Amino acid sequence: MKIPSINPERFLEDFNALAQIGATGDGGVNRPAFSEAHLAARKWFGERAAEAGLEVQVDGAGNHSAILRQPGASKSLLLGSHLDSVPNGGHFDGALGVVSALEVLRTIEETGLELPVNLEAIDFTDEESSLIQFMGSYALLGLLTPAILRSPHGGRAALLEGLSHAGLTEDGLLSSRRNPDTIAGYLELHIEQGPKLESAGMQIGIVTGIVGISSFRISFYGRADHSGTTPMEARADAGLGASSFVIASREIVMNQFPDCVANVGNMEFRPGVFNVVPKQVDVSLEIRSMDCERLNALKSALMDQAQHDAEQFDLDLEVLTLGGSEPASMSSRAQTAIRSSAEALGLRHMSISSGAGHDAQLLSRITSTGMIFVPSIGGVSHSPVEFTEWEDCVNGAKVLLGAALHLVEQE
Ligand code: GLV
Ligand code: MN
Ligand code: MN
Repeated sequence: MKIPSINPERFLEDFNALAQIGATGDGGVNRPAFSEAHLAARKWFGERAAEAGLEVQVDGAGNHSAILRQPGASKSLLLGSHLDSVPNGGHFDGALGVVSALEVLRTIEETGLELPVNLEAIDFTDEESSLIQFMGSYALLGLLTPAILRSPHGGRAALLEGLSHAGLTEDGLLSSRRNPDTIAGYLELHIEQGPKLESAGMQIGIVTGIVGISSFRISFYGRADHSGTTPMEARADAGLGASSFVIASREIVMNQFPDCVANVGNMEFRPGVFNVVPKQVDVSLEIRSMDCERLNALKSALMDQAQHDAEQFDLDLEVLTLGGSEPASMSSRAQTAIRSSAEALGLRHMSISSGAGHDAQLLSRITSTGMIFVPSIGGVSHSPVEFTEWEDCVNGAKVLLGAALHLVEQE
């Protein structure tokens, strides 16, 4: 099959226009899920798709789709990523996958190629876990539950406010499951967010698997006391247990779990003022591994450590598991399609695993799923200075187009 070429100028124009939405002035964007900027980016995506004559759909979880329908097709090949960002993130993470998917659809539409499946460019809701990690893809799989909605990362009040801001409801989230038989596969182009491709001098990464992620809120409870009059030895200082845990968790990972990572991304002290001994500290902990058993073993080791730290400083402990995702393998069919596409374009490629989470890890449970990585300069991401050479972005979009056609050929 002759593979048509995307329009790099149109692709760049759209990519740059999107980077202006929620721009922070330092090269980054601030588009946490359901913020004004996030909703504006989704509106922009819908408008660009409609201008191109594509059908636009929004499901009950807010996932935005642009669809290129094919006569008589009952399945859709999904291509996409996410338009939300971490707070003060970069403008490549997620955006590249959505804009390239849109460009692939427009290119195929223009060539008039007839395919056995519909093509759908999809922007998933809250990939970055402002509220619920992978909210959109979990909803599409029908795996959200009332219990998950009760304890979101960002807190219950923030979830309800975000949903209302976006015109969504909890019932909608809980009833957005799609029949897997109607999905022909899922491909996601993404920046690597790490240094391996650049170090190896490679242009394309063919993702083999994606880390599993678990997140927890660990609360240490002590006693509020006057900071000036309470003797040091008489305090039940929640800050001490929490701080001791943070340092120890790094030691545990580095010494016993070098194949895993852990991050304490936040510690909230209450009441959080100079002159009161902290009565409560909430620690936001996330752990990641490519292996399910190792993830569970690390979880147990860290929970034992938290218990130990609480006892040492005379504190109570409460652990809330907030969710996450299991490690996932990408399908060999999708990897082959990506490899064939990269080879046809003469691009240097290598197999690579992903330490970052992606909607692809959820989709891989129900359909042939693959990811294409392009190099991140210096391996930097989740930062305004995250950067990928434009030529690499274009290469990635071309590989996406070729891989999509290879995959649908087999339908
Ligand atoms: C998503 O970017 C994640 O890995 O948290
Ligand atoms: Mn990200
Ligand atoms: Mn991402």
